[in-house]
Amino acid sequence: MENAVIKSLKERRSVRSFSSKQVEAEVLDLILETATYTPTARNMQSPIIVAVQDKDEIETLRKMNASIMGTPDSDPFYGAPTVVIVLYDKNFPNGIYDGSLVMGTLMNAAFALGVDSCWIHRAREEFESEEGKALLKKWGIEGEYVGVGHCILGYRDGELPAPRARKENYIYKV
Ligand SMILES: Cc1cc2nc3c(=O)[nH]c(=O)nc-3n(C[C@H](O)[C@H](O)[C@H](O)COP(=O)(O)O)c2cc1C
Repeated sequence: MENAVIKSLKERRSVRSFSSKQVEAEVLDLILETATYTPTARNMQSPIIVAVQDKDEIETLRKMNASIMGTPDSDPFYGAPTVVIVLYDKNFPNGIYDGSLVMGTLMNAAFALGVDSCWIHRAREEFESEEGKALLKKWGIEGEYVGVGHCILGYRDGELPAPRARKENYIYKV
């Protein structure tokens, strides 16, 4: 059965090598807006989405993320020119589910518009730290938030990776 949405969902892959071309404002805005339509528990819209394109701010995040990984000189963001962070309000017990689903929408909306992405982890540790909390404050974000993930965005430098074969017994039909 041919269907453009299904095709896009199946063809999206995590990309780990990016050109320096920035994601255009209009395209980024559409990706972000689409993500706000993600379902959330009790429709509470517990996540927030922070899009970062400022090079110095991305460098600050890179250092924090790489230090958490234990390799402070590495680039966990693979040179992507845009880093979108998803966090959730800590007062919402289902925030981790809501935020993960928002991450999925970001990646799939991006791919549908020709933009590549990858989920980069360690946002929880990043925004648990005093440095992370200070960053949120500096960005004008009040309240207590838990980091879910970073969705890096940009245009791939090279081929789209091939998907790994799907495991057996992924699906059970009863
Ligand atoms: C919760 C989660 C955390 C991830 N963290 C990272 C990460 O820190 N760095 C990275 O390169 N990829 C990360 N990924 C991407 C996965 O490695 C990738 O989705 C997986 O290998 C499947 O590849 P595909 O997305 O191309 O299908 C993460 C994915 C998820 C869902």
